[in-house]
Amino acid sequence: MTGAYFMLTIQQVPCAFEGRVVMGPKACCPPSESNEAASLAEPLPSGNPDEWNPSLQNRAVLSCPGLHTVVGKWTKTSPRFARARPKSGVETKRVDLSKIESKSGAKALMPGVAKSGPFSKLMAGGRIFWHWAVRRSEVLPYPPVEISIEPTNRCNFACQFCPQSSPSHFDQIPASAIQPDGVEVLLGKIRNSGVKSDLLHWTLDGEPFMNKRFHENLAVARDFGFSKHHFATNGMLLTLDRLSRLPSEGMSYVKTPDFCSDEAYFEQVRGTPGSWKTVRDNLIAAIEDPSLAHIQFKITDISSYRFNDPQDLDRRFDELQSIFPKSDRVSFHRRVFHNASGKLDSRLSSKEGYRVCPYPWYTFFIAHNGDVVACCRDLEHQSVLGNLFEQELMEIWNGEKYQAMRRDLAGKRPECQSACDGCDMPYDAAKFSLRNFVKTALHRMLILSR
Ligand SMILES: C[S@@+](CC[C@H](N)C(=O)[O-])C[C@H]1O[C@@H](n2cnc3c(N)ncnc32)[C@H](O)[C@@H]1O
Ligand code: SF4
Ligand code: SF4
Repeated sequence: MTGAYFMLTIQQVPCAFEGRVVMGPKACCPPSESNEAASLAEPLPSGNPDEWNPSLQNRAVLSCPGLHTVVGKWTKTSPRFARARPKSGVETKRVDLSKIESKSGAKALMPGVAKSGPFSKLMAGGRIFWHWAVRRSEVLPYPPVEISIEPTNRCNFACQFCPQSSPSHFDQIPASAIQPDGVEVLLGKIRNSGVKSDLLHWTLDGEPFMNKRFHENLAVARDFGFSKHHFATNGMLLTLDRLSRLPSEGMSYVKTPDFCSDEAYFEQVRGTPGSWKTVRDNLIAAIEDPSLAHIQFKITDISSYRFNDPQDLDRRFDELQSIFPKSDRVSFHRRVFHNASGKLDSRLSSKEGYRVCPYPWYTFFIAHNGDVVACCRDLEHQSVLGNLFEQELMEIWNGEKYQAMRRDLAGKRPECQSACDGCDMPYDAAKFSLRNFVKTALHRMLILSR
């Protein structure tokens, strides 16, 4: 590797710092000798560059000191070309890899992936809180923290509590699924924006396992350094065969299947006769299979959609737990239903006590067609904030539409955003309780450090 030359091309990207457009680190950071060193200190794959995974060869996410992130491309080049004048509008640097200390281990797999500890997660949470609750910032100096990709909007169920079951559901967004090459494009852009997390959510509309190439999508994500994957599934297609196809080495999964002990109620509410036993048997087989130790299940009781007597709900919750074998890979939870951006009746008795929904300050939901939508409730793309196949992530995240959504929510004008108009989230006091914040923060820290 000694003497190999790489050209580092800094692309023109919106600076994460107050929306300024920058050309490389020096434009947004105070000039200092450490700028270049900081760029080069990012971990590079070890070994012969020709043998790097092709999807990694041309990407590098560089952080300059402080919060700022710029996007660069590592491109192998000849010494002759490296000496040539760079094209105007593009800053170039020559990098002699022999002078860079190669790093081994997980980080070396993907430049820019960082395994952060509880302290840095707490700091990241504090930063979100500052920009959401205190400053009400419209432009954010950090990329999104929680990223979701929708594997498909197709579903094999017709749950009464989900907009999927509406006959007009596909009128606006035709049914389709994302393919591995599409996932590669999206994840390349996500990494280029400075996202360093190793956790990815696969959720929005549809049933993930209705995407026949879901396991291939996950393999692409692994190449990009995403080793933790969270998604909900209705469990109907959760066979041992499908589960064994998910990449396992170095990967962990948290799946959230909705279930309940009442067979008749389940099949009625989920609109799918004959499904209860299949889901139950699939889950039990997966829990008992020792080769699936990398998969955790958060089985979630949906009894509260119809029943509301607390004692009855407690009894149903106990019954649900008794169905499954005891395992440290299984935990039990209760679903709290929302009104799906106004598509369903709200369980809240009144729309009082408006609070600013925090989602636009940290989440980023990408539909299978690249549309970036308001949040996990926006299944019908009522508020499209951009398209990640057509734009860069930071261009969307700090773009006019995202800024307008943050401005409207902070200004108590949710009706100005199609997705938020009618959504009961801002009036759901339980979501904004201190207890819920602490629970969410602890949950996030534990999950992310797992
Ligand atoms: C839209 S589904 C997609 C994944 C998969 N089809 C499933 O049902 O698990 C994602 C999650 O949204 C939840 N969900 C759907 N409608 C809801 C509602 N009205 N209130 C709360 N959660 C809801 C489901 O329970 C599921 O956990
Ligand atoms: S909740 Fe999931 S399983 Fe039910 S209709 Fe919606 S997408 Fe399908
Ligand atoms: S107000 Fe509702 S629809 Fe809007 S971002 Fe928040 S949860 Fe989503």
